[in-house]
Amino acid sequence: MSFTVINLTPRIGSEIKTDVQTLLSGKHSRDIREILEHRGVVVFRNMPINDEQQVAIAKTLGTIPDNEGEGGIYKISLDKGINARADYLKGSLMWHSDGSLQKYPNLGALLRPMKLSEVGGQTEFANTYAAYDDLSDAEKSDYDKLRVIHSAEASQYYVRPEMSYAEVQQWQQVPNKNCPLVWQHQSGRKSLLLGATCDYVVDMKIEESRALLAKLRDWSTQPQYVYRHEWQLGDLLIWDNTGTMHRAIPYPEDSGRLMHRTILEGEEPLN
Ligand code: OGA
Ligand code: MN
Repeated sequence: MSFTVINLTPRIGSEIKTDVQTLLSGKHSRDIREILEHRGVVVFRNMPINDEQQVAIAKTLGTIPDNEGEGGIYKISLDKGINARADYLKGSLMWHSDGSLQKYPNLGALLRPMKLSEVGGQTEFANTYAAYDDLSDAEKSDYDKLRVIHSAEASQYYVRPEMSYAEVQQWQQVPNKNCPLVWQHQSGRKSLLLGATCDYVVDMKIEESRALLAKLRDWSTQPQYVYRHEWQLGDLLIWDNTGTMHRAIPYPEDSGRLMHRTILEGEEPLN
């Protein structure tokens, strides 16, 4: 069956035109992995699949963790009745990457809309390989040396700016992670590692650190590095979580918006 790739913007995002059987067969899984690494996001339109097929497609691309969701499907919703961790998921409205506190950040994820919001709810992705590549040589050599402390607590201030002492203590129980600002991948390529879990740059004055993290987030999310996905029912979207950041555009909590997500486990340690 046919398998056609169309680039959606010059620097990020490709649409693949194919059919369910071809995807399930896994015969293009290597091509898809390669497109993901270089284009950050892969979109399939009019791909009418069910949960089992979503998980089966994910398994042609990588490994599914056994601790997320039911049968490999995790429900993304801001409605507490659907996801008890809906408050935590409000963090998905900020630029982030998934599993940044893990030793092996997630390789990627598959996302499929079950119900859309009438307003908002698009998902944006930024290519952090491209953002790194376009830095000057001087910036690259400065940033290559820097380390950033990531914490769950830092990401929560975006969701609840005035946390109580008890809440701060609770989030501080999640271990911090000391990460390179520039992820040197096993492939030899480099990407910027940013997002809502960034707390501070090690050995830098706190004001300078905050300014640098904001500057690099601004830099990495310039229009030329960003793909905004306008969802339609029947879409299947896959992203490479190791070379992109993403966020949802705000949507009403009671909009009913529901996404089914399947995670691909990380394969590369981040030390
Ligand atoms: C996620 C996520 C964004 C969205 O599933 O990890 O951040 O648009 N989702 O729901
Ligand atoms: Mn996410």
